Amino acid sequence: MGKIEKSRQARSFKERAKKYIPLSIQKRLYSIIKKARHIKNIKSGRVITKKHLQNAFRQAGLKSGNIVLVHSSLGRIGHVENGPETVIDALLEIIGKSGLLVMPGFSALNYDKKRNMYVFDVQDTPTYTGAIPEAFRKRNGVKRSMSPTHSLCAFGKNAGKLIEGHDKVDNPFAMNGPFGKLYRWKAKIMLLGVDHLANSSLHIVEDKPYFPVKVFTEKFRVLMKDNGKEKIIEARRHTDHSRKTRDPNIMEKYCLRHKAMKILKIGNTELRVIDIKKFVDMMDGLCKRGITIYPAGIK
Ligand SMILES: CC(C)(COP(=O)(O)OP(=O)(O)OC[C@H]1O[C@@H](n2cnc3c(N)ncnc32)[C@H](O)[C@@H]1OP(=O)(O)O)[C@@H](O)C(=O)NCCC(=O)NCCS
Repeated sequence: MGKIEKSRQARSFKERAKKYIPLSIQKRLYSIIKKARHIKNIKSGRVITKKHLQNAFRQAGLKSGNIVLVHSSLGRIGHVENGPETVIDALLEIIGKSGLLVMPGFSALNYDKKRNMYVFDVQDTPTYTGAIPEAFRKRNGVKRSMSPTHSLCAFGKNAGKLIEGHDKVDNPFAMNGPFGKLYRWKAKIMLLGVDHLANSSLHIVEDKPYFPVKVFTEKFRVLMKDNGKEKIIEARRHTDHSRKTRDPNIMEKYCLRHKAMKILKIGNTELRVIDIKKFVDMMDGLCKRGITIYPAGIK
């Protein structure tokens, strides 16, 4: 068995095991792991600087003018000098003013009993996607799209154009929404210390009319708040069944086979760089052959 297949099986086992451990215990366990990793990183005496990060990003092909969607784990990189801000600065300095930096501003659905519906606040709803996107979300000038579950945060050229209209799409990953624009604009995806579980662009193909699995719920109402203005929109999310049964990491082997992804070392972890256009086209082709991240036979 090859190295990739072994690590895929290990990840897949971890994912299955998670289904049997209550969420509260998983959270407590992860918090212990996180603390231990952080202490180990500090004790190692190795400090990851902006220069270290930029060398790795440049080696990965990041250039001035690039559009890049970054999913990340700060702790897995190692001990980063000045934390999340250094990672953000490193990326922004390379892509420059003509580039566009995008991060997931995804959030948990928040039900307001008084209003009798879900509520999302563009300025205040925090993201669960980690310390780097949360710091990015709070930066001056960063724009955030209006999706109660999968909003994107963006800074740079065409940031406004990217985030526009997320509140009007059929599902969060629709081709006419921000994710579809990233595909058409040939963005790069960076998985910084994380695997395909964090690679949200693998849901873009689910917007195709022939996608064989019903993955989205019916529409529900959400109150959107933006700078004191309020409006009600309709949104969909993934069904619980689709979330529990999918295995995003099966895409690792296809990405390598189709040369849609490079893997490089960065600090203590790996950086996966994916060409979104090749990736989505590849997933589209696989879907037409009946291969998706969902088990065969689920409808
Ligand atoms: C969940 C996830 C964010 C956890 O990663 P993580 O590295 O443990 O946590 P963060 O990235 O939030 O980094 C914060 C942690 O880094 C560590 N840390 C603190 N300062 C640090 C520094 N200067 N340098 C390095 N690590 C540091 C701490 O352990 C900190 O945890 P704390 O906030 O509880 O103290 C990550 O596994 C993940 O999945 N990321 C992708 C999310 C995503 O894009 N999802 C999209 C699909 S759902």
